[in-house]
Amino acid sequence: MLTPATHSTDVKFADLVMRVSGEGADAWRVHYEAVAARERGGDVIILSVGDPDLATPAEVTARAVAALHAGDTHYVPAAGRTALREAIAAAHARRTGQPVGPDNVVYFSGAQNALFVASMCLAGPGDEVVTFEPLYPTYPATVEVSGARLVRAPASPACRPDLEALAPLISSRTRAIFWATPNNPSGVILNDAELACIGALARRHDLWLVSDEVYAGLAPDGRVPSLAAQLPEQVVTIGSLSKSHAMTGWRAGWLVGPRALAGHAERLAMCMLFGLPGFVQQAALTALELAPQAEARIREYCRMREERFAVGVRGISGVNALRPEAGMFMLLDVSGTGLSGAAFVRELYAAEAVAVMDGAAFGAATAHCVRVCFATDEATLDEACVRLRRFCAALRRRRA
Ligand SMILES: Cc1ncc(COP(=O)(O)O)c(C=O)c1O
Repeated sequence: MLTPATHSTDVKFADLVMRVSGEGADAWRVHYEAVAARERGGDVIILSVGDPDLATPAEVTARAVAALHAGDTHYVPAAGRTALREAIAAAHARRTGQPVGPDNVVYFSGAQNALFVASMCLAGPGDEVVTFEPLYPTYPATVEVSGARLVRAPASPACRPDLEALAPLISSRTRAIFWATPNNPSGVILNDAELACIGALARRHDLWLVSDEVYAGLAPDGRVPSLAAQLPEQVVTIGSLSKSHAMTGWRAGWLVGPRALAGHAERLAMCMLFGLPGFVQQAALTALELAPQAEARIREYCRMREERFAVGVRGISGVNALRPEAGMFMLLDVSGTGLSGAAFVRELYAAEAVAVMDGAAFGAATAHCVRVCFATDEATLDEACVRLRRFCAALRRRRA
């Protein structure tokens, strides 16, 4: 058999390849195993990824199809079309109270892409970026790809940022604080008092504040407390249509921030993307027009599924549900089973073919938990609860 082609050890990769190959990638191992098993026709239940099983609103798809037929298949400006950036700016202004225009906005291929660009534009080698645990598993690589070091601020037992522990982590090397609100995986929404404390630190130490609000549309009334209006020169808000509109595969997201940052981000978008598909941008415009209905739909959907899942796991031996304020995830504290989150994920998948995510992927504070995405159909959710209950009962019998 031919050995697969590989590189000569005399040619070197850039240092950054090491910075993006860490724990974030490992966290997805069981998930990808489950996806591969499903593709082979296996009876697996995948609750490991935040991808609602709702369809994209029909009007959005229709607009994309019409735009394709009308020939919107050519190059588009790197920052995104002005009409779309105006619509994003208007939606941001309504949500946060910060008056912004299209020059404050750059359109990207999802929030993940916008986070990457924010990271590259705001910090570099020798700098530090602080984030709060529990944190979304792509953050370490997304932050450290720039050469900056990620500093993790611990969480309180209730999964809220430990603000007393935060202040001493800020040093002359700190350039930015990144967070997600509502949080993935905990569903915690940063409140005004917490934001005031973070804002004071940012003022005192001249820090960037990057607020990942990809789940904001799922929060009560579709909004979360924000520092954007109070600190417009330092706050960068990240958003997307992925979660609010069930549009994860469309890759439509953005960054809103000071004009100078938007200029740098646009130049990075130019050399990285050279513009994104125009027919998707037309669809994104329709999606923004529909935002009130689309967001109300997903909020109601998540509310009902969250309730159903919480009822379904009630009384499972060794499992305690930590109910979220918003979003599509629930943390299950599995410490009562005697297993760590990682062992629970492996053993549950091996025994019952249910894929969930190891809480340790989000930091030490949730290593005794697993994360479950409940945004799926009722039958699948009910079957997942049956399998979870059976797995935990078998565990208990084994240990008795
Ligand atoms: C906190 C957080 N930020 C960003 C993203 C990426 O979102 P998008 O699909 O818009 O790239 C996710 C996806 O799960 C997320 O949970």
